Amino acid sequence: MTEQTVTLNTAEGDFSYPLLPGSVGPEVIDIRKLYGQTGKFTYDPGFTSTASCQSAITYIDGDQGILLHRGYPIDQLAEQSTFMEVAYLLLHGDLPKKSELDEFTNTITYHTMLHEQLATFYRGFRRDAHPMAIMCGVVGALSAFYHDSTDITDPNQRLIASHRLIAKMPTIAAMAFKYSIGQPFVYPKNELSYTGNFLRMTFGVPAEEYEVNPVIESAMRRIFILHADHEQNASTSTVRLAGSSGANPFACIAAGIACLWGPAHGGANEAALNMLREIGDVKNIKHYVARAKDKDDPFRLMGFGHRVYKNYDPRAKVMQKTAEEVLKELGKSDPVLDVARELEQIALSDEYFIEKKLYPNVDFYSGIILNAIGFPTDMFTALFALARTVGWVAQWNEMISDPEQKIGRPRQLYVGATQRDYVPVSER
Ligand code: SDX
Repeated sequence: MTEQTVTLNTAEGDFSYPLLPGSVGPEVIDIRKLYGQTGKFTYDPGFTSTASCQSAITYIDGDQGILLHRGYPIDQLAEQSTFMEVAYLLLHGDLPKKSELDEFTNTITYHTMLHEQLATFYRGFRRDAHPMAIMCGVVGALSAFYHDSTDITDPNQRLIASHRLIAKMPTIAAMAFKYSIGQPFVYPKNELSYTGNFLRMTFGVPAEEYEVNPVIESAMRRIFILHADHEQNASTSTVRLAGSSGANPFACIAAGIACLWGPAHGGANEAALNMLREIGDVKNIKHYVARAKDKDDPFRLMGFGHRVYKNYDPRAKVMQKTAEEVLKELGKSDPVLDVARELEQIALSDEYFIEKKLYPNVDFYSGIILNAIGFPTDMFTALFALARTVGWVAQWNEMISDPEQKIGRPRQLYVGATQRDYVPVSER
């Protein structure tokens, strides 16, 4: 098949660039030679039209509201698979056979404990430190403890580091919560599932046995799966960019955690619940929707809108269903869920949101579930980071193994001062 090209007509002449097809989704214009041939850069703040890499891990069709992990639809994975299965799928490309899953699960289980000295690392934080501040610090500090898995040129060390990161994030997150409430750290228990172990380390105490509630365990499993990976989002791009310099995997994941913290990204789940609480009652919704539409008001509906989804975020649908199940299981009603449902209905029938294609995203309902289970609001993004570590690690491994990868180094449109001579302070 002859290569398709796109031609750019410029004052200096016409230049053709290859059109590269993917297995599905938009083609890309390969402009790697553009600057060398034309002396011009492309300009795309926020990378709205830019593919930074090729990847086989996650495919999103924003218009159709489709999310596939290695080809499997997110709703099927959320309903039928375990988080360990999804982790294996993201890392290795196919659903594991029973023996492969058992071996992988066993490997992860035996990396869940932290080096004991890391527990003292927590004591350097104030008790009221935000859990994401602790996650950034402790995950970055892992590179000071696990020197036998920081050589990124060694595939075995990359694999061990990947397993350690996936295995230790629940322990680190649970310890951040325990530290904030002054309770003792709870060690992992190997006979529990990945999710059950996290629940016990978070809500269990040494003074009594902790029984994992299977409905809550399943809800957390689904929440972890829904947050596992999402193509080249801001935090994943941060991990890839950090990794492109050859930084060790622990430092790269710490960079991803820092980026995820922002309220426009992973911090939106915490911001969305705080917003729903501020609205407080369905009678106040119209006022807040009006604020969200007012160009002069910086207020936005947190948990609404998405860079890629211009349709309903498929994860939000599963999240809404899970919220109903968890509240029913716990025999709780939450007025905030009533506000969320009414807000969604009003917003989705409002011309502004329809025209701008703003729908609820993954963060809109997640906080209601996490709050019902007993997590404080400031733990929500730490849970997002815990789950997204699987995706970050898979994307980092893909980037490192990509023969085309090189250090990421964007250029700019310079609009500053042109050259001028220094003026001594006595003459200014
Ligand atoms: C995540 O990228 C990923 O995949 C992220 C994520 C993942 O899994 O990794 O899916 C997780 O981060 C989900 C998004 C969570 N963030 C929020 O819920 C915060 C609220 N949402 C917005 O801040 C916003 O929608 C973004 C940041 C998510 C997307 O912003 P874009 O793509 O840059 O779109 P934009 O800001 O240019 O908005 C387009 C228009 C603007 O109006 P105009 O300037 O064109 O007139 O829509 C408006 C915006 O003002 N708009 C909103 C809005 N979101 C966008 N107006 C009111 N409320 C909102 N929530």
